[in-house]
Amino acid sequence: MSKLLPFARRARPVAPDHAAGTLRPSSSEKFISIEGIARRYPAPGGKTTTIFENLWLPMRRGEFVCMIGHSGCGKTTVLNILAGLEAPSEGVVIVDGQAIAGTSLDRAVIFQGHALLPWRSVLGNVAYAVSSRWRKASKAEVDARARKAIATVGLAGSEHKRPSELSGGMKQRVGIARALSIEPKILLMDEPFSALDALTRGTLQDEVRRICVETGQTVFMITHDVDEAIYLADRIVLMTNGPEAKVAEIVENPLPKDRDRAQLHHAPGYYALRNHLIDFLVTRSRTMRDAMPEGYDPRHPPVVRPSLSEADAAIAAGPPAKRA
Ligand SMILES: Nc1ncnc2c1ncn2[C@@H]1O[C@H](COP(=O)(O)OP(=O)(O)OP(=O)(O)O)[C@@H](O)[C@H]1O
Ligand SMILES: [Mg+2]
Repeated sequence: MSKLLPFARRARPVAPDHAAGTLRPSSSEKFISIEGIARRYPAPGGKTTTIFENLWLPMRRGEFVCMIGHSGCGKTTVLNILAGLEAPSEGVVIVDGQAIAGTSLDRAVIFQGHALLPWRSVLGNVAYAVSSRWRKASKAEVDARARKAIATVGLAGSEHKRPSELSGGMKQRVGIARALSIEPKILLMDEPFSALDALTRGTLQDEVRRICVETGQTVFMITHDVDEAIYLADRIVLMTNGPEAKVAEIVENPLPKDRDRAQLHHAPGYYALRNHLIDFLVTRSRTMRDAMPEGYDPRHPPVVRPSLSEADAAIAAGPPAKRA
């Protein structure tokens, strides 16, 4: 019977000693701190539409956080606020001890569309970003930094091609190289791989993952793809449906940081995590919008970590022959 227990009922709070079952990070863990932000728009008849409100989220340095939620719940708006492209109607975002006030080269954005300058070469596009970051750098230094970023995303040899000569995946790589070339404190990605075919998407996910693990990059990424979130994220933020969306919960990824895509489905905790995320998207994102659980505190959304399902436990134990 326990086989079919939904993950939510098996999920245990990360800090069981805490009365509300939530994790309260210390100030040192708050490299990024989203504090009570809301976004509201004027609606017909002098009314106001609240996209989301009272949204709180701390992020640690070097953490990879994915946000998942249905269309219209305000994910891009949150990312734009983090980027400084939009101001919240209420609340504040603190990065490295300072409230965000506008855009900064410390926060690089990778959009779904690559947004390259079509008249510039690959090298020209990346070098343009590098020279905006290091205004006094010599041309040789700018070139060297740009070439290094281009090589990191596997595009060495294509430096002199123009965007029109590149495939969609290659263009997206240039966008990633451009973002990485300025050595941002934070990488913000809004569904960066969603327009790509599955093969290219997988390769780019591998590359982004390798780069982020190697460099300890702090990342906030939006995705609709549950498997992408499981592969990339340390924590997955689940948003209820909008309007008036909320952070329903924050799911800690139990899979080891050192993950292998091909072996992911053999990792203990994988199925519990995947089922939980899908269950949320299919059902709870809607039901929780209508009624949040008793005791829900938007300042400290529940933090859950999957326990092993029976299927996972069997995988962890290995084939029967091995177990004997
Ligand atoms: N200028 C605006 N005026 C009124 N409403 C707006 C405006 N800009 C965005 N919205 C609304 O804010 C909501 C959130 O938009 P947002 O783009 O952040 O959603 P999203 O979660 O990223 O969706 P998707 O998954 O489709 O990208 C949407 O319902 C959208 O219609
Ligand atoms: Mg969006």
